[in-house]
Amino acid sequence: MTRLSGKVALVTGATSGIGKAAALAFAREGARVVMAGRRAEAGEELRAQIEQAGGQALFVQTDVSQAGQVENLVNRAVERFGRLDCAFNNAATITNFSFTADISEEEFDHEINLNLKSVWLCLKYEIQQMLNQASPGGAIVNTSSVNGLGGTPGASLYSVSKSGILALTKSAALEYATKNIRVNALVAGAFNTPMLQGVITSFADRANLEQSAVENFYNERIPQGRIGRPGEAADVAVWLCSDEAGYVTGHSMIVDGGMSAAYR
Ligand SMILES: NC(=O)c1ccc[n+]([C@@H]2O[C@H](COP(=O)([O-])OP(=O)(O)OC[C@H]3O[C@@H](n4cnc5c(N)ncnc54)[C@H](OP(=O)(O)O)[C@@H]3O)[C@@H](O)[C@H]2O)c1
Repeated sequence: MTRLSGKVALVTGATSGIGKAAALAFAREGARVVMAGRRAEAGEELRAQIEQAGGQALFVQTDVSQAGQVENLVNRAVERFGRLDCAFNNAATITNFSFTADISEEEFDHEINLNLKSVWLCLKYEIQQMLNQASPGGAIVNTSSVNGLGGTPGASLYSVSKSGILALTKSAALEYATKNIRVNALVAGAFNTPMLQGVITSFADRANLEQSAVENFYNERIPQGRIGRPGEAADVAVWLCSDEAGYVTGHSMIVDGGMSAAYR
């Protein structure tokens, strides 16, 4: 018996990094997994991998910043598997590294749409489904970041998005606590994914440093002495969605190897 057997779990940002590790982890725990991302080939490969291992999965090509596409994602999940029990709203992209006064209105709207509005859209359609299904209820985890706990010079829009996700998470948790819907945030530190590799490369280029020097910079600031593995974030999302976390809602679970412990 696995922790999520019989459940239906939706994972956004499943084509890479933490979301990919999470889709595999949800499937290992017995959930039927619905995966979203914009890259169909990567999504279909992952679906095949889960099915070859004996699981059940569906990939739905989705841009989570588009309301119609998110509504379609939830509808397709329910058409295929009948209900929605768990959701991991995890997709995001860092598009802007400008200082605050140099950001254009278009850049502001673009990144906030991609990283914050997208999570609200997912919550909206997922919660509507969870409220209206037979045996109403569910568990939702939204991916925030340690960048959402404070400011981030050169990435303020990313910070704003991740901080907004914490406020959305807590608000929704309070609103739906009596409806058997739990909503929590995974506050991620540094994890070894294509996103982090992109950030490290961009930082190294701008500061004229070797990539390894930037990686060392991270490692030295993490009390556990290393960048996390995507599976270590995924396992926390799975636990938050499981019945073992049945009395946990509105929580911001920091998973960062201790990086922020001295400041909080
Ligand atoms: N890695 C870290 O150190 C770190 C630290 C703190 C927080 N986080 C957070 O962790 C989450 C996962 O990041 P990651 O590091 O795993 O990054 P990643 O490897 O770049 O994966 C990001 C995922 O999001 C998807 N995505 C991005 N924009 C999307 C959109 N508009 N619609 C649909 N899917 C979209 C991408 O898929 P497609 O390209 O196929 O659309 C991809 O699957 C993000 O919320 C990130 O902010 C990461």
